[in-house]
Amino acid sequence: MPPIRLLSPRLANQIAAGEVVERPASVVKELVENALDAGANRVDVEVEQGGVKLIRVRDDGSGIAEDDLPLALSRHATSKIASLDDLEAVASLGFRGEALASISSVSRLTLTSRTESQEAASRVEVEGREMDARISPAAHPVGTTVEVRDLFFNTPARRKFLRTEKTEFNHVEECVRRQALSRFDAGFTLRHNQRVVQSLRPADSPLDRERRIGALCGQQFIDNTVVIDAEATGLRLWGWVALPTFSRSQADLQYFFVNGRVIRDRLVAHAVRQAYRDVLYNNRHPAFVLYLEVDPATVDVNVHPTKHEVRFRDGRLVHDFIFRTLHKALADVRPDDHLRGAVAQSFGREAAAHGNPEPATGAPTGASWNGQPQVPNYSHPGGSGAGFGGQSQPQQEWRASDQMAFYQSLNAGGGSESPQSMPVSDAVATPVPTPPVDSDQEPPLGYAIAQLHGIYILAQGRAGLIVVDMHAAHERITYERMKRALAEQDLKSQPLLVPLSLAVSQKEAALTESHGEELQKLGLQIERIGPETLAVRQVPALLRGADTEQLVRDVLADLIEHGQSDRVEAVTHELLGTMACHGSVRANRQLTIPEMNSLLRDMEATERSGQCNHGRPTWTLVTMSELDKLFLRGR
Ligand SMILES: Nc1ncnc2c1ncn2[C@@H]1O[C@H](COP(=O)(O)OP(=O)(O)OP(=O)(O)O)[C@@H](O)[C@H]1O
Ligand SMILES: [Mg+2]
Repeated sequence: MPPIRLLSPRLANQIAAGEVVERPASVVKELVENALDAGANRVDVEVEQGGVKLIRVRDDGSGIAEDDLPLALSRHATSKIASLDDLEAVASLGFRGEALASISSVSRLTLTSRTESQEAASRVEVEGREMDARISPAAHPVGTTVEVRDLFFNTPARRKFLRTEKTEFNHVEECVRRQALSRFDAGFTLRHNQRVVQSLRPADSPLDRERRIGALCGQQFIDNTVVIDAEATGLRLWGWVALPTFSRSQADLQYFFVNGRVIRDRLVAHAVRQAYRDVLYNNRHPAFVLYLEVDPATVDVNVHPTKHEVRFRDGRLVHDFIFRTLHKALADVRPDDHLRGAVAQSFGREAAAHGNPEPATGAPTGASWNGQPQVPNYSHPGGSGAGFGGQSQPQQEWRASDQMAFYQSLNAGGGSESPQSMPVSDAVATPVPTPPVDSDQEPPLGYAIAQLHGIYILAQGRAGLIVVDMHAAHERITYERMKRALAEQDLKSQPLLVPLSLAVSQKEAALTESHGEELQKLGLQIERIGPETLAVRQVPALLRGADTEQLVRDVLADLIEHGQSDRVEAVTHELLGTMACHGSVRANRQLTIPEMNSLLRDMEATERSGQCNHGRPTWTLVTMSELDKLFLRGR
């Protein structure tokens, strides 16, 4: 082996650059973060040829004192932390003190800066293996401009991985979008090849913030969101989450910020998915822009060189808080929330309503009212329920007699009525009067006027024609009632006739001992009968027909990964969903007008009533302006 040598500063920096500087967008991220850390109110980003030829970021922040300029470009030099204590409570975006050193080792970088106390600006650049800094006088207002030319000119291997100009620019644009979402108080501009692509003024008022979200994530997104703002035990979660009907085919409109830093995190992703579980159609992805604010000392940001990941000191608390907040917000969604945008369109923004523009980010095609995506080709709800673990289909083993027995057990426990007598028939005795349609008190879903082919209810509402999928709507109402009824009872546990013996890993086996109480709460009694063997003795009564082995394995996997499991609830709800489907009004049943109105009122009062149990929409609106358009009728 050759002797051990010290790497030259440039080579050491180039190696470090391998971790953080992947493409032009990574450079933009680091430079904009520096600008924001410097307290900039304005950040201008300019790129040429997707950023490969030039990236220039200019800010009006504090600037760097002339004496500090050589240090700004050297590795392990930062003004942001000075001790381990600082690191553990860091609130700035940067702290590693190596971004500029890394970038300048793989490009031609110049930094020009001036502080308020300086008469004139100075410029710094580095050269050679030793990366010696050269300072020269320059002209610049208070603030900083960093220019990065010819990225990877001296690292051909890296350069080969660059994609087309368009792709690289898309990454830059996405990066600026994230930064602009992270700091409403700063203005941003983005130019590509001398063309202005994005220009955002500081957004101080709530309305300005929504405008910015609209500009960055699409007007349709902001028109279809619920506003969140919750606080508990030192945590605050605020932002916008899309209604389940505004779901996406990809997870491409999901922004989560922790103390202003955009992150990707499995724990967070899991909590959000769990909150949407009951309302999202198969394989669709929720859309959201969310901000979590926590005490910086309770989150470790020094986990990954690009700082895209964090570690929470109390992950479970954070998971729970996110889940609960979103779950509640989604449960509270009522037809009113859906109609907000539509009514505004129909009456206020005539021009915008016409043509139903696509959001800038490209919503799924075939959008109907204010962006609600139409889900093509759904099979009958009863047949589409995939089992837990994605393989087994427990509900198939459920016979009608089981279901009826379950309903009866609910009734016996003071629960709700049997499915046959559920909501629709209640109404016959108490017909709902039909007040004039322009009344301010008009219910959101309006009043029924007819039934179409035994499938749809047609109702007249303030904004236009409301069409309700009778079966889907009733299914959700029944389902929510059954869930409530079940929640009022304990999850009864029932012994298996023959205990199920399971081969598992040692870790999983140990888990059943340490988490015995939690498992018991889920109605599972599991005993460790060998180092790698378990005996499942009891399961929730309701799930005795399910695939017990799969259920137990999934629960253990959840406990290992998330410290908790919602499988039992998920599978239980899936079963209730199937039962609700069978217990709900079928197509071709003729309903009277009062029955239909009663169903509409139930929908308005029911949690998550905008989607059936399978996440399909239960109703849609055809606005007056959409109808006018069909008839070429100007109003
Ligand atoms: N736009 C700017 N305005 C003011 N000071 C800046 C700016 N950019 C960089 N600096 C100064 O230069 C230092 C080095 O920046 P650099 O990005 O290399 O490291 P950092 O931000 O401290 O940490 P990290 O490597 O995590 O980004 C910063 O600590 C800051 O003092
Ligand atoms: Mg930095």
